[in-house]
Amino acid sequence: MSKHGKIVPQVKVKADHHAKMAEDMKQRLKVEELAENIDELEDVVEDVFPILIVTVIVSSLLLIIFLIRMYMKYSVNNPSKNRLDGKTVLITGGTTGLGKATAIELAKRNARVLITGRDLPKVEAIARNIRKRTGNQEVNALHLDLGSLRNIRDFAEDFNKTEKSLHVLINNAAYLGPKSTTDDGLERAFAVNYLGHFYLTYLLTDKMKKNAPSRIINVVSDAYVRGNLDFDDMALNNGYGVYSAYARSKLAQVFLALELHRRLFSSCVWSFGVHPGACNTELLRNYPGMMGNFWRVIARVMFKTPEDGSQTIVYCAVSDGLREFSGKIFSNCKVLKPSDKVKDKDVAKKLWNVSAELCGLQIDEPVEEQVVSSETGEASVEEKKDQ
Ligand SMILES: NC(=O)c1ccc[n+]([C@@H]2O[C@H](COP(=O)([O-])OP(=O)(O)OC[C@H]3O[C@@H](n4cnc5c(N)ncnc54)[C@H](OP(=O)(O)O)[C@@H]3O)[C@@H](O)[C@H]2O)c1
Repeated sequence: MSKHGKIVPQVKVKADHHAKMAEDMKQRLKVEELAENIDELEDVVEDVFPILIVTVIVSSLLLIIFLIRMYMKYSVNNPSKNRLDGKTVLITGGTTGLGKATAIELAKRNARVLITGRDLPKVEAIARNIRKRTGNQEVNALHLDLGSLRNIRDFAEDFNKTEKSLHVLINNAAYLGPKSTTDDGLERAFAVNYLGHFYLTYLLTDKMKKNAPSRIINVVSDAYVRGNLDFDDMALNNGYGVYSAYARSKLAQVFLALELHRRLFSSCVWSFGVHPGACNTELLRNYPGMMGNFWRVIARVMFKTPEDGSQTIVYCAVSDGLREFSGKIFSNCKVLKPSDKVKDKDVAKKLWNVSAELCGLQIDEPVEEQVVSSETGEASVEEKKDQ
């Protein structure tokens, strides 16, 4: 400004110029600061990145394990509240796992429950425990070793003489483990899980017909789809695997469930197969090696409880309206679509005949065969001579 108060434009320009320079400087400083921050951030990201990746991988794995666990543990509760007053149920292998859980539930529903096991004092202790727990005094223990054809014959003879009735037979006992043979010289998984039940059922069929409508429940496994039946290698001399031997025995048991339906439906003896799902029982106790340890840990963490696994077995034993579902396989109280593997009736018949022969039975007896309408469940029966 001049003495006379007039504005001097040059000074204004200088001031503006300084202000601009200061502003530029500020901007430059900001940019430098930003660049420094970005460098620091890059250092931090470099340090944190591996931890981040590990966290993402671990969380994804945990999520996957959680989802698989939910899937494995998924269980539908038996919706039927039916009781079994005055009915007799025989359960093979009632000392542990699914057999024991089923026995407890059926005892609560007032059935007369007979459980079997190889070690009589052990089965008696379990039966005593179930009586105490449920208040049902009609729970009894019987000795039965399904690995011995002679023992099965004696058991059935005694049972047919002493027991007035049998309304539900639950073929539940099973062996899964290293290769071994029974006293009859048969591969153990096939003998216990399938053939023993075939023979037992055969010997008790008349009693079941007399108590019709009655039910036979075979506790199978979806492992059957991985089973292979080679009639030329019944002893599995060409290679034994713990799981494949078990799967073969379960495939044979599914064939049994379907064949029993064909043979007995007209006599009002209904046959069901039940896949209980993967359950934390003692089934894996004989699984050898690291695989055994691995599966036992997985079973503890991921599998259903025996109580959940027994729901569908109980459902098939007590529920109304199942007549038209005879010959079906159930899981989670619903019918499962059968694999193509078990659709060949000739294989089923061949297995029946081979089994009869192994048990020393006549195989040329009359066989009831019926065609069951899938729509109505009605059966037409024709008696045929088995070839
Ligand atoms: N657990 C699963 O994840 C699963 C999955 C699908 C299907 N299943 C089926 O469910 C059924 C029950 O198995 P689980 O899981 O409850 O097994 P578990 O706890 O091992 O019970 C098996 C039962 O079979 C009996 N047993 C074994 N060998 C026998 C023999 N030679 N004679 C008579 N009884 C014998 C055992 O009695 P003792 O040893 O006391 O004599 C025991 O009571 C089996 O048919 C199995 O294939 C199980």
